[in-house]
Amino acid sequence: MGLFDKFEKTATLYNGLEAAGRNPFTVVMEEVLGPTRAKIRGRETVLAGTHNYLGQTFEPSAIEAGRKALAEDGTGTTGSRFANGTFSGHKALEEDIAAYLGLEHCVVFSTGYVANLGAIAGLVNPAEDVVLIDADCHACIYDGCQLAGAQTIRFRHNDPESLDKRLARVPAETKGKLVCIEGMYSMYGDIAPVKEFVEVAHKHGAYLLVDEAHSFGIYGENGRGVSEADGVMDQIDFYSGTFSKALASIGGFVASRHREVDYLRFGSRPYKFTASPSPASIATAGAALENIAGDASIRARLWDNANRIHAAFTQLGFRIPAPSAPVISILFDSEEAAFNAWNFLLEQGLYVNMAIPPGTPGKESLLRLAVSSAHTNDDIDRIVTAYHALASSLQQAPIASAE
Ligand SMILES: Cc1ncc(COP(=O)(O)O)c(C=O)c1O
Repeated sequence: MGLFDKFEKTATLYNGLEAAGRNPFTVVMEEVLGPTRAKIRGRETVLAGTHNYLGQTFEPSAIEAGRKALAEDGTGTTGSRFANGTFSGHKALEEDIAAYLGLEHCVVFSTGYVANLGAIAGLVNPAEDVVLIDADCHACIYDGCQLAGAQTIRFRHNDPESLDKRLARVPAETKGKLVCIEGMYSMYGDIAPVKEFVEVAHKHGAYLLVDEAHSFGIYGENGRGVSEADGVMDQIDFYSGTFSKALASIGGFVASRHREVDYLRFGSRPYKFTASPSPASIATAGAALENIAGDASIRARLWDNANRIHAAFTQLGFRIPAPSAPVISILFDSEEAAFNAWNFLLEQGLYVNMAIPPGTPGKESLLRLAVSSAHTNDDIDRIVTAYHALASSLQQAPIASAE
């Protein structure tokens, strides 16, 4: 048995995708032309598979803030938050996020992935606590459970009753119970019934962590997320998020009404043992937060765009698993059909994400489109035209095998 034997399956998949056409997992943005356009394979392409939901990547105020931080504070922190990697910018952003969310405490981590690892592994004691997670949770929540080494129980996706049953079976001697869900799930764009989950979790004395990576800035009257839309911002226990989507930067955070979240700074390995986000990343995230908090029209544009695209795709007869949301997926019966459709759209000058099992909820293959408030009318026309052409080609002949 060699070290590389495990890659045999990966090599078959990778080489097959390369041989059959463009590989969805090795796309290079050769030149970035703006928030919704890039050159891919020498061709100007509409980007509808990035998570630039609020179009902040080229906002002048964010770019200026990043430039200033780069010039004044340097290229990197060269250290972890725990040691020399906390600058005044990191502290100011923690305060700004806490104020925006109306939660008293916030801890910034290096990425959203690391924030969830840090929260779960920092909060949970494997000897006496248990974690319960929605089956469709993101890999970083699963990985956080592994890092914690705690007993982990999955409940059915978006099903508070399933959580209720599982919590009822947790042995009485278990000390702490942490439930993890997401606000909006990124594969289908479906949202969690957060209010019902709060009720069930608290009925059993469990704490609730909501990962709002895809819903921060987007749902709720003030963009605070699905927890705000459900009226339970003051009841959830932990709120995790990322700077890599609505805030168009890199970094992540965990916010909470519980002051104990601050102890993650001492007890959480993912906080202590990796470098903190660069001053420019922090400054651009802060400027983007100021923009989106102060201008509700950005969020309104995103929803207008999402509703237009969702309505058009519905009319075209695609299988769409969720109501209108900033993520709009269409489902295929096979990896091959999704792969061919993905290539077809790229040839039409449109980039979307392709996702295949085991990373998809129902083990189906799908194309995932992420809407941006920065999509122009022209971008949307091009998106709808490309999907229209795809629908026609699927009707003429189920997309042929790539061989
Ligand atoms: C639900 C969810 N949580 C966390 C993350 C991680 O965020 P980051 O890109 O900041 O590591 C992602 C990333 O896609 C995500 O979808």
